[in-house]
Amino acid sequence: MNYRFEKDHVVTIKDFTVDEMESIFELADEMIPIAEGEKKDDDLYGKLLTTLFYEPSTRTRLSFEGAMKRLGGRCIGFAKPGTSSAKKGETLADTIRVAAGYADVIVLRHHHEGAARLASKFSDVPVINAGDGANQHPTQTFLDLYTIQKTCGEIDNLKIGFIGDLRYSRTIHSLAEALSLFDLHKMYFISPEALKAPEYLLEELKEHEVQYHQFDKPDAILSELDVLYCTRIQEERFADRLEFEQVKSCYRIKKKLLEKCGAKESLKIMHPLPRVDELDTDIDSSQHAVYFQQAKNGVPVRQALLAMVLDKNFS
Ligand code: CP
Repeated sequence: MNYRFEKDHVVTIKDFTVDEMESIFELADEMIPIAEGEKKDDDLYGKLLTTLFYEPSTRTRLSFEGAMKRLGGRCIGFAKPGTSSAKKGETLADTIRVAAGYADVIVLRHHHEGAARLASKFSDVPVINAGDGANQHPTQTFLDLYTIQKTCGEIDNLKIGFIGDLRYSRTIHSLAEALSLFDLHKMYFISPEALKAPEYLLEELKEHEVQYHQFDKPDAILSELDVLYCTRIQEERFADRLEFEQVKSCYRIKKKLLEKCGAKESLKIMHPLPRVDELDTDIDSSQHAVYFQQAKNGVPVRQALLAMVLDKNFS
């Protein structure tokens, strides 16, 4: 594969075309033996990645660090802002200026929407958005799309439903935007009124001529879906505790529900994880569960992205 990566930063999924995403997936395929430790590679030998995580993470941080190390690179960083000088009042802009002097690429997770965009303005090295508040999680979207393509054979023409916290889930916001670029003309959103998808997202879908249908329960639509993308209710984003209490257990996907609603045998259930109680463990051993494979796909996909960002004339 010979490919020139044109981006300085990875801030929002909106900056990517379908062709660019497909190039990432092609390279991710080549990365699988390296991601699984079956093939040695030191393409990123001498390169340093810093992970600046102002919010908790298991998958995103560990898969970025694993991806970098399997490619021969090294990692520095912090997993808790309380152990950094943010605790002493340092601004994000100053932290980014300093970190850019220490490393070749910055992976940033932050609770403020727009933090990655701001960081990109103060950084001489690529900034990769690992989640900014309820806004975007573009690298999760790459691995979600990759997982859909791998497990369903294609992305176009699928019936994809989103369930749970459509209001605050950055993974849903990014993924719905990305899917609107593919040949997929309908989306299904399932949530209580208080957790509906934001108006800006629905407007964007209209602009891309994607029809969307909203439901408050999965029962009426589950039998038609090829993919059901579940999300946790994002407790940390609620300003009002009472509001969270009212919706915290608003749905639970379990085998009985799938049977009752006549879900397709081929239905794929995805979840960015972590889950709380919205996805019963009785699904884990079923043919529907792809969420652990989805998390695993984070390594080759992020390896592809790191290779492209750090070696722009990747071949
Ligand atoms: N999917 C995801 O972003 O998981 P983490 O919060 O564990 O990184």
